Amino acid sequence: MIYFDHNATTAVLPEVLEAMMPYLTSKWGNPSSSYKFGAQIKGVIETAREQVAELIGAQPREIVFTSCGTESNNAAIHAALKANPGKRHIVTSAVEHSSVLNYCRAVQSNHEIHENGRYRITYLPVDRDGLLKLADLENAITEETAVVSLMWANNETGVLFPLAEIAQICAARGVLFHCDAVQAAGKVSINVRSLPVDYLSLTGHKFHAPKGIGALNVRRKAPFAPYIHGGHQENNRRGGTENVALIVALGKAAELARKHLPGYDEAVRPLRDALEAGILSSIPNTELNGHKTERLANTTNITFHGIESESLLILLDQEGICASSGSACLADSDKPSHIIKAMKPDSSASRHMLRFSLDSTNTAADIKKVLNGVAGAVKMLRG
Ligand SMILES: Cc1ncc(COP(=O)(O)O)c(C=O)c1O
Repeated sequence: MIYFDHNATTAVLPEVLEAMMPYLTSKWGNPSSSYKFGAQIKGVIETAREQVAELIGAQPREIVFTSCGTESNNAAIHAALKANPGKRHIVTSAVEHSSVLNYCRAVQSNHEIHENGRYRITYLPVDRDGLLKLADLENAITEETAVVSLMWANNETGVLFPLAEIAQICAARGVLFHCDAVQAAGKVSINVRSLPVDYLSLTGHKFHAPKGIGALNVRRKAPFAPYIHGGHQENNRRGGTENVALIVALGKAAELARKHLPGYDEAVRPLRDALEAGILSSIPNTELNGHKTERLANTTNITFHGIESESLLILLDQEGICASSGSACLADSDKPSHIIKAMKPDSSASRHMLRFSLDSTNTAADIKKVLNGVAGAVKMLRG
């Protein structure tokens, strides 16, 4: 198998599995218990909190463990809205992940919370390269805006929004800012100490931890109201007995991601560029989706005009090549990608595209095989 779908999920690293195993076998106590068998586990949760904090330049007490990136995104927007009950406006973009877009839609259609008036959502547009205009953000923010929620790296195109500028605008206008950094973590350097981001979401399975564990960084001065109510866990910020094994795994994966980050770009970018240039130069009627440079080093999104994405994926799968036609969360819907549609509304590019997302375990031999596989499949389908 050649796996070129690392934006969907990644393999659990052996060191991560090894670190978490004791908490599924011999050390299965409850960290809230008063006796040693349970209480000693509190310490490993705090170590993991430090490891996650170090990956993003945060303070450990700012980290709240969650069950996934989706929960982190929901919890952040929830906290911002709770802190500003009189403000009924959310600013986001047309290319966010469904965990942000559908949460905004749910808020808008939830009649129980409308005693102060209905929520209004502004979806900032993007240009053909997937970039947004900062002037649009400036113009969208009003006295009514409770929160701005914008991603760092796009999951389908890898396009990077200018986080520092966005954070500065929100801070200057006194509006809470949430950043979905799920695709950025482990791929670009993040330092929340120098960025005024109030809430920042992560998920472990994008950087070699198992699925089902995430984190939300809540800046020290940002307001917070729990999204999941229960016991006193996570300093009263998220109820529920801690998922100790997965928290330990997230901590270890964050430590390894931090260690590997300096070499990540250098390992991945030449491979991605070779794949992209190979496809665009040798296969006619192909087109890159996403800005050429303002992009993650590992992602390329290409439209193959005249070919349905699904047909191409099936042929590639027969060759043992894993790629995707958009977000894995929406793969079972037959709707074309809302992201490519927002970038190129007048074109059918969204129905005919594939995303290839690499990591440092991929090799030049993989690129060669994928180039051959894609060329053969396209020839067959166009024939
Ligand atoms: C940009 C982005 N945000 C949020 C998520 C959701 O993360 P999770 O699968 O952990 O819920 C994903 C997952 O694909 C994503 O790519």
